[in-house]
This record gives sequence, structure tokens and C-alpha cells, in this order.
Amino acid sequence: MDLIQQVNKERLPKHLAIIMDGNGRWAKQKGFLRAIGHENGTKSVRVTVETCAKIGIENLTLYAFSTENWKRPKLEVDTLMRLLVSSLKKEIATLQDNNIRLNAIGNLHALPKKVFAELNDVIENTKANTRMTLTLALSYGSRDELVNAIKEISAKVKNNIISLENVDESVVNAHLYTQNLPDVDLLIRTSGEQRISNFLLWQIAYAELCFVDVLWPDFNQNHLAKALIEYQKRERRFGKTSEQLI
Ligand code: FPP
Repeated sequence: MDLIQQVNKERLPKHLAIIMDGNGRWAKQKGFLRAIGHENGTKSVRVTVETCAKIGIENLTLYAFSTENWKRPKLEVDTLMRLLVSSLKKEIATLQDNNIRLNAIGNLHALPKKVFAELNDVIENTKANTRMTLTLALSYGSRDELVNAIKEISAKVKNNIISLENVDESVVNAHLYTQNLPDVDLLIRTSGEQRISNFLLWQIAYAELCFVDVLWPDFNQNHLAKALIEYQKRERRFGKTSEQLI
């Protein structure tokens, strides 16, 4: 039986986030250029997005390009930007067929004009879709997001739009790029590395972490199913005791 059938559809994470790591190592192992690794990574993106939508995950967030990724060689950055535009053009039909809404978080104005325009186009064209929200983190850094939120809140306090006493977690949430998304329930990172790499630091406060020892281009439906089954076995206590949960 397909492993995905064993996932309990009643206990899915409401928000699954993935750090797609290992494209470069995958290519190197095979003697290919890193670009080929990224190209093959887009296949795993497609399988993951379709599977998540089919089984009923409401929010999927993918770390596609970090603020730190701008420091990579220009050729690699250009390849990733080109892949993004071509994937967006190619996958718009998949998004529509599966009733998926595209969303993006990060410093989107730092993206090349062509990427920004294509992205906005797909976001606009899929905004009425309701089955799943697919969020791409692009030019995203969690510290950058928090600094922005702090600046915006401080300005509002200074201008008496909100009072200091009223600044609480919900106010912080409302000033993050993820303001319309629930907290992350499950965070998966591929490639065997066990790091968070500046991804959704605030939003993963109570997330279950799952590190999968497979390079992103090899990540398939069974790896996803295993991570979801593992998540469903965990006891999420949110600071309480086991007894209090009963
Ligand atoms: C990490 O591998 C991956 C990235 C930095 C980019 C992820 C991008 C894609 C999967 C392709 C395009 C995305 C979409 C949403 C269509 P790495 O290069 O850090 O690998 P390494 O750690 O082995 O060098």
C-alpha cells in the first residue's frame, strides 16, 4: 500500500513548512552543475505541492530563496530566478486545476522585475482558490521580517496609532509577512542538515521539527508521508503536561 494512504487525514498539520535543502549536493554527487540540481528540485516541488493539496493540507510554505542566498555566485542566483519564472509560467495550470492559491513572503521588492511581475500575476490569478495556500518564501529572512515588524510597530506607537500597553503577540503576528497564516505545525528540512537557517523563527515556536536524510531532488511522496506519520505520533503539549491534555 502507498504510504500516503496511511496518513490520518483528520490529524494533518494545518501549516506545513519545508526547507528544501540539498540541490547542490545532489548535483555534485552526480557530477552535474548545481543548476541541474535546482532544476530537478522543481520536480520535487511539484510532487509535494500536488500531494499536499490532495491529502488536505491547508497551508504549505516553501523556503525557495533566502536573504542570504543573494550572496551566491551571480550565475546561480540568475539560474534560480529563471527557474522561478519558468516554474510559475508552467505551473499556473496545476495551481488552478488543484484549486491552490499562491502567496509569497519576503522582501519581494528585491526580486528582479520579471520575477516580481510573474509572481504577482500568478498571485492575482489564483487569489480566489480555496483548497490550499502555497506560500513561497522568496528573498525571505526571519530576522529581516522581525526587524520590519518592530519598525512598523514602533512607528505606530510613536504616532499614537497603538499604545505600548496594547502591543502583544497578536500585534506582532499582524505585522509579519505571514499575518494571514496560522503558526507552523510541522517543519521539514531535507538533506540531513539540522538547522533552521533564519526561516520562520517566530512562527515555529511550537512546531514539530522533522529532519529528513534525503537530498531535495530525491524527496518524494513516501518521504512526505513518513514525515506526516511521524508528526502524528508526536504528543504536542504546548507547555502543558501530558495529563492536562487528556
Ligand atoms: C537548497 O539547495 C535549495 C535552494 C537554495 C533553492 C530551492 C529552489 C528550488 C527547489 C527550485 C525552484 C523553486 C520553486 C519554488 C519553483 P542548496 O543549493 O542549498 O543545496 P546544497 O546545500 O546541497 O548546496
